[in-house]
Amino acid sequence: MRLDKYIKHALCITRGDAANLIKTKQVLVNDNPKNKEYDVKDDDVVTYNGKLVTYKEYYYYMLNKPAGYISTTAQKEGLPVTSLIKERDDLFPVGRLDKDTEGLIIVTNDGDLAHKLTSPKHEVEKKYYVESKYNIKKEDIESFSEGVEITVDGASYKCLPARLEIIEDGKSYVYIKEGKFHQVKLMFKAISNEVLYLKRVAIGNLVLDENLEIGSYRELNEDEIAYLKAVK
Ligand code: URA
Repeated sequence: MRLDKYIKHALCITRGDAANLIKTKQVLVNDNPKNKEYDVKDDDVVTYNGKLVTYKEYYYYMLNKPAGYISTTAQKEGLPVTSLIKERDDLFPVGRLDKDTEGLIIVTNDGDLAHKLTSPKHEVEKKYYVESKYNIKKEDIESFSEGVEITVDGASYKCLPARLEIIEDGKSYVYIKEGKFHQVKLMFKAISNEVLYLKRVAIGNLVLDENLEIGSYRELNEDEIAYLKAVK
């Protein structure tokens, strides 16, 4: 791959800026200046101002979404969650969380993976922590396991069976395998309850890192990426 293309993608900058860094010898290959057309080999060591530059086609982050940030362009107001990730501006969120929902969201530039994880065909189970207005009753657990009726785009929709697990009064976990707009809130409405606080804590086996403060993020590790890629 050409050096300017390599630098453009790795540092997520324009091709012009990449060419400039190469020309001004801020980028070196094996400690030597090169021209922008140089063909980078697998064992070349590329540095930018002395720091190693590694090339990865795809980037995967887990972000602990704060309330107030939006994850879809359909929501008009609010800063996009992707603006929290400072290193790159070519990323998009996988799936959506409401503006007031917190917790785990994957942010990537891998369109195929994003498409797969959000496709109803793959049924990845999402786990949410819920604080609700009223305590959960035994019948609610049964209703969820049978599939509650919600209204989606004006039409009645029977949800897939979902698991509801009581933590303590007014606090529960809900596990769902689909992602209709406002689904958890609508499911709680269907059992005459109301979601007061919602946080996604897991997507399949990918669990929100408890060391991640709200609004912070980290790259997924190799095992986590391999798990997501292996989701059937
Ligand atoms: N269900 C909701 O109601 N809101 C979310 O953000 C996610 C799931």
